[in-house]
Amino acid sequence: MSRILSAVQPTNNLHIGNYLGAIKQWVELQEGNETLFFIVDLHALTVYQKPETLSQNILDVARMYLALGLNPNKSIMFVQSHVKEHAELAWILGTITKMGELERMTQFKDKSAQHANNINAGMFTYPVLMAADILLYDTEKVPVGEDQKQHVELTRDLAERFNKLYGKVFTVPEPLISKSGARIMGLDDPAKKMSKSAASAYNYISLLDDVQTVKKKIKKAVTDSGTEVMGGASRPALNNLLTIYSLFSGKSVSALEKEFAGKGYGNFKDGLADTLNAFLEEFQEKFHAIKESEVRDILADGAARAVARAALKMAQIKETIGLL
Ligand code: TYM
Repeated sequence: MSRILSAVQPTNNLHIGNYLGAIKQWVELQEGNETLFFIVDLHALTVYQKPETLSQNILDVARMYLALGLNPNKSIMFVQSHVKEHAELAWILGTITKMGELERMTQFKDKSAQHANNINAGMFTYPVLMAADILLYDTEKVPVGEDQKQHVELTRDLAERFNKLYGKVFTVPEPLISKSGARIMGLDDPAKKMSKSAASAYNYISLLDDVQTVKKKIKKAVTDSGTEVMGGASRPALNNLLTIYSLFSGKSVSALEKEFAGKGYGNFKDGLADTLNAFLEEFQEKFHAIKESEVRDILADGAARAVARAALKMAQIKETIGLL
């Protein structure tokens, strides 16, 4: 049994990369572990969000968590800003974080290039708040996609540095990255990861895309030269589509290659779109059936349970560093 924690930003709708890289694992990890899953609304503010859209996105992500299989009787589900200790600990950890460490973060480099007219201090210190999220709950394992590994490694460094300075207060967490699906690539560009903030909607499949949109996006998805449905070192587009197909169908990549041998890309893409649509239709039905009042109750209950833990840990941290 391990203490497991992870989170998603409520920016736009979630895509299948968020599901395959992170949330799919969370659902499995709920069994036999102590799990906390939350929505990082404070992190989302590092890029300007329209207030009414942000509130709606927070509720929608919570409904997505539930519709994808998170169970509030097994996991603590809450919103980051409802537990003020996250921001409080982030300040303290900021005092032991080096500027150079933050300058090296790939996500900061990408985001500052993408939002060149709003490179704010929050965007820079984003990983420190993420470290606070993790360390506040004595987390042992953090299930995330490949792109968050660097942030978890920084969290480990900060935990070790703090423990050396003040005595053992923090558990040093480990990233938990699945072998397959940890880096789903863009459908329009298999050299870059699938991303909510991509310029084109043809980059990703949103969990709320309808049947026709999914068909269109899969049809337009980039393929490698040739006609054979075969993965391999020089076939990044096919590898990506095969990974997605395999994870949603439960069939292995080699079984799919056999199934579509000699049948060409068209057939393969039809099969993939149908598989995705079967999953998404079932998900969306559940998503739309969940009432907002139910979500609010679950989040309020989750916040109360998270605060109870966070307040205790914060008291220990403050005492250790000499705050009265
Ligand atoms: P975010 O909201 O960007 O992404 C949420 C999760 O989805 C994974 N992911 C992907 N996995 C596979 N392929 C992709 N193309 C892909 N794109 C995204 C991410 O790796 C992540 O697991 N900083 C985090 C949120 C966060 C957090 C935390 C996570 C804040 N505090 C504490 C864990 C623990 C983020 O921006 O995720």
